[in-house]
Amino acid sequence: MAETEVLQGDRAGIVRAAELLSEGRLIALPTETVYGLAGDARSDAAVARIYQAKGRPSFNPLIVHLADTADAKAYVLWSDAAQRLADAFWPGPLTLVLPLRAGHGLSPLVTAGLDTVALRVPAHPLARAVLRAFGGPVAAPSANPSGRISPTSAAHVLAGLSGRIDAVIDGGPCDVGLESTILGLAGPPTLLRPGGIPREALEIATGCPLADATDGQITAPGQMTSHYAPGARVRLNATQTRAGEVMLGFGPMACDLNLSESGDLVQAAANLFAHLHALDRPGITGIAVAPIPDTGLGAAINDRLRRAAAPRDDG
Ligand code: TXA
Ligand code: MG
Repeated sequence: MAETEVLQGDRAGIVRAAELLSEGRLIALPTETVYGLAGDARSDAAVARIYQAKGRPSFNPLIVHLADTADAKAYVLWSDAAQRLADAFWPGPLTLVLPLRAGHGLSPLVTAGLDTVALRVPAHPLARAVLRAFGGPVAAPSANPSGRISPTSAAHVLAGLSGRIDAVIDGGPCDVGLESTILGLAGPPTLLRPGGIPREALEIATGCPLADATDGQITAPGQMTSHYAPGARVRLNATQTRAGEVMLGFGPMACDLNLSESGDLVQAAANLFAHLHALDRPGITGIAVAPIPDTGLGAAINDRLRRAAAPRDDG
């Protein structure tokens, strides 16, 4: 593939991004959570290119991004629960998994053969502008090589995928910084992946406690134990560094980089992947991470950190 084009977030960039999508090409685009690697969700060739560019195991299905809530009904069996959650959290960092509807027109590669599909209406103005200009459903996993740290800037995308994708549209750093929360609605509401909308807020909207995904079920990200992994080893709940390690802090403390000096979980989420990228450099053999509270967005932060720290089999 030729060099990856860097597009600005202006009218010309939006038009070019939509044009590339229409040709079945791949573009990385900013969302409020992380940058997504976008392709036409109806095109087998485009979706196959996404898996290839990421080096992603093809059994791991993708999220389909839509410009508006009303678009969802063409692809899934909509429900009152889905409507309530969409009213409360779309556009925004929530993904809903719903039963596919007959004649949906999505590539079967998007769902990896499941009878459900994951849908999201992102809030980022550039993502919405590109979705509107393109006028169709867009499959977009996070724009990083499979298993590595998710990108929260155009520079992160280029560091991982330059030359493997057609373009990246630069929208600056992502506000939320963690992927969307994934909620299964094909049965009782089930938390499939913690993310940008805390569980507590979803339980208020659904009016009931959420079930948790059981192990072994084909569900969400959780299934790939080692994920979000920087080159250096990650050690959690650390109070001090060992030889060769740098310290990633939280709250007032001495450290190399701090997720949030004031102990703010929203700020920590926004900084998490950028700080892991910044500490992921030659000569650093380990990253010691301070304890992070497990409430609100802390649950999603700790989920990503546990995966970053998990034993790896890919070297
Ligand atoms: O914030 C986000 O969600 C970002 C941005 C780009 O929107 N996207 C993202 O995509 O995180 P990805 O591919 O890295 O993670 C999507 C997860 C996968 O781990 C997959 O297992 C799960 O969604 N998923 C997709 N379809 C599913 C389905 N039908 N049932 C259960 N899980 C599904
Ligand atoms: Mg990902």
